Amino acid sequence: MALNVVIMAAGKGTRMKSALPKVLHRLAGTSLLQHVLNAAAELGGGRTVVITGHGAEQVEAAAAASGAAFVRQMPQLGTGHAVQQAVPALDERHPVTLILNGDVPLIRPETAAALVQACGGSKLALLTIALADATGYGRIVRDGGSVRAIVEHKDATPAQRELREVYTGIMAAPTAWLKRRVMTLRNANAQQEYYLTDLVALAVADSMPVVSTAASSETEVLGINSPLQLAELERRYQRAQAERLMEAGVRLADPARLDVRGSLVCGSDVEIDVNCVFEGDVQLADGVRVGANCVIRDARIGAGAVIHPFTHIEGAQVGAGAFVGPFARLRPGAELGTEVHIGNFVEVKNSTLARGAKANHLAYLGDATVGERVNYGAGSITANYDGANKHRTVIGNDVHIGSNSVLRAPVTIGDGATIGAGSVISKDAPPGELTVARARQTTIAGWHRPQKVSKKV
Ligand code: UD1
Ligand code: MG
Repeated sequence: MALNVVIMAAGKGTRMKSALPKVLHRLAGTSLLQHVLNAAAELGGGRTVVITGHGAEQVEAAAAASGAAFVRQMPQLGTGHAVQQAVPALDERHPVTLILNGDVPLIRPETAAALVQACGGSKLALLTIALADATGYGRIVRDGGSVRAIVEHKDATPAQRELREVYTGIMAAPTAWLKRRVMTLRNANAQQEYYLTDLVALAVADSMPVVSTAASSETEVLGINSPLQLAELERRYQRAQAERLMEAGVRLADPARLDVRGSLVCGSDVEIDVNCVFEGDVQLADGVRVGANCVIRDARIGAGAVIHPFTHIEGAQVGAGAFVGPFARLRPGAELGTEVHIGNFVEVKNSTLARGAKANHLAYLGDATVGERVNYGAGSITANYDGANKHRTVIGNDVHIGSNSVLRAPVTIGDGATIGAGSVISKDAPPGELTVARARQTTIAGWHRPQKVSKKV
């Protein structure tokens, strides 16, 4: 069903103590607002309106980037006042308007859809949850089972404060009724704010049924107000991802020490050691092993490959059976073929390495095309940048690059060539031959080390 979605995001977020608007802080690598926008998008077509206020320009830019509309609320006089600002933007052709919170990021689309269903364009539907400690929340006041009102904590009587069922801040209302009735809210309460929650009493007065839907877990209705709450919700989120991966057979050394900031898709028999961070879209094929403390972003790792500890991979592909690391760095455009070996302190950028090529120690390959079975010696580099432009290095199959060589691009090393250690290669090297480009070794006969001059006192 097409619907209107209002996302309230004008609040200050004082307790974040940050220059960044609260809803733009990130959970699992994605802003809080974006999580909510994604959930709204999953509910299908309609119109999404973000209420902005504090940090409006930044928040509006984020909303616009997702195709959402926005209205500014200045000053912020409460949640009812916030929705009043959205009234002109709500499309009456959509019978239901869903109200979400920009700082409640993990709301499940399934739960929101159930709430919309419960509203059905004719009832006021509230998302509620029972909490052990309900301090600060609006309490659901019932009479013989049916909801009569929401009473804010500050306005509640001692008896009402005993109530454990609370309003989560998320509701679905019939659009035409909401547009009319939200304008009639008053601010005669403890905080002198326009409370959206007073809509419940108005619905009761109008004989409109008020129904409730229970949230499936606390996690999906937890709001963020402070760095501690942000970090705690992040851990809950990561724990859920770890459980999902483990249910699919992934062996995590410790589910508490994994961070997935994006999407991680694993084949069977994948093992991940502690403290690994996966960002963007990462795919690990069958039998991949990832050592401790790796950061892997937007990458595809082939079957059986082993990523040793402390490796950083971004925008790269690793072939089946390859070994990478420890302490290796694959930058965007690195494409390693089957059984390639990349060892410690080796950096690869925008380069392809064909099957079986090896660069095991302290090396740089940038803008290079490397053939099969090449052995790229320790300390060798491609000098790919002349200060203005980047140039390519082409290394044929079965080439042996001696240690500490500089391949000054553009340059081509023919198939089967050997480059003597310590060479600076600035001209193409022919296939099958040994090419050496360094000063010849000489021995100075009869040379003596200088002697220390003894000082006379
Ligand atoms: C609100 C509910 C309370 C509920 C709780 C759940 C009201 C009156 N109370 O209280 O019943 O238990 O959420 O977390 O609605 N906002 C604006 N403009 C404003 C004020 C708020 O956009 O003028 C936004 C905030 O940025 C936030 C959301 O609305 O995203 C909720 O506001 P907040 O001040 O946190 O409401 P609570 O007092 O927590
Ligand atoms: Mg709140």
